[in-house]
Amino acid sequence: MTTKIRKAVFPVGGLGTRFLPATKAMPKEMLPVVDKPLIHYAMEEARAAGIEHFIFVTSRGKTALEDHFDRHFELEETLARRGKKAELEALLSWQPAMGQVSFVRQPEALGLGHAVLCAKELVGNEPFAVLLPDDLVLSKTPCLAQMAAAHAPVGGNLVAVMDVPREHTQRYGVLTPGAVDGALTEVKGLVEKPKPEEAPSTLSVIGRYILAPSIFGHLERQERGAGGEIQLTDAMAKMIGEVPFHGFTFEGRRFDCGDKVGFLEANVAFALARPDIAPKFAPFLAEAAGKL
Ligand code: G1P
Repeated sequence: MTTKIRKAVFPVGGLGTRFLPATKAMPKEMLPVVDKPLIHYAMEEARAAGIEHFIFVTSRGKTALEDHFDRHFELEETLARRGKKAELEALLSWQPAMGQVSFVRQPEALGLGHAVLCAKELVGNEPFAVLLPDDLVLSKTPCLAQMAAAHAPVGGNLVAVMDVPREHTQRYGVLTPGAVDGALTEVKGLVEKPKPEEAPSTLSVIGRYILAPSIFGHLERQERGAGGEIQLTDAMAKMIGEVPFHGFTFEGRRFDCGDKVGFLEANVAFALARPDIAPKFAPFLAEAAGKL
């Protein structure tokens, strides 16, 4: 029997060293793509998939994230007084309801698996989603909603996957693929950041997961993997054979916003997908492209 996915975990404890100096005093998850912070896209994507409880695993220096999802009465009052009705309505439209948002601290940066383990008490014994806000997906149907629909009939673990150039396998969790059924690929093996010559395939995990709660039993052992970190990939690999486990080839394009070039690409792609921005932005882009 499968259960509705109600909770999503957002690991947001990372330092953002790839984006200095922008991220020295500002959480990397607050970097805007067009006009929304990365974390905001992740929250909207989760909500579109039916998520009701948003769990943020934070660390020092991340209070801007808490403020972003909190009410801001002075701003609301100012917008109301100035007659900016549309702006006020827009602001209130995405505001999470009381009790929908939780924050838990990751006391030490011990890896992605450790970050997810920090959410154990808040998740409890039900399947849940994990979204890495660095990974932004531009698609017709939001990526997690595609995954929730694909997960319903099969249950277990479902991870979003895409083919990457072989020279990039060292950036990802990589699958040993089994039987393919439409968008689903059976996971026969999983390894974190393999060297190109050792990678079992080029089918790689991006930052969208639906996980069975039994993952916590594996994470609790806190075994160290690649880079000396407690890896989510290693805990998931231990679940092969225990629960159904599939890679899901999503519709859409993924941008690595933890990388400067990926972040710029996302800004251009998301701007061109916005009817209010694209007509004003496209002429400049065409002109800039013409100069190359
Ligand atoms: C993490 C995961 C990796 C996954 C990647 C997707 O790595 O550990 O398995 O493929 O996210 O973005 P990170 O990018 O945090 O190094």
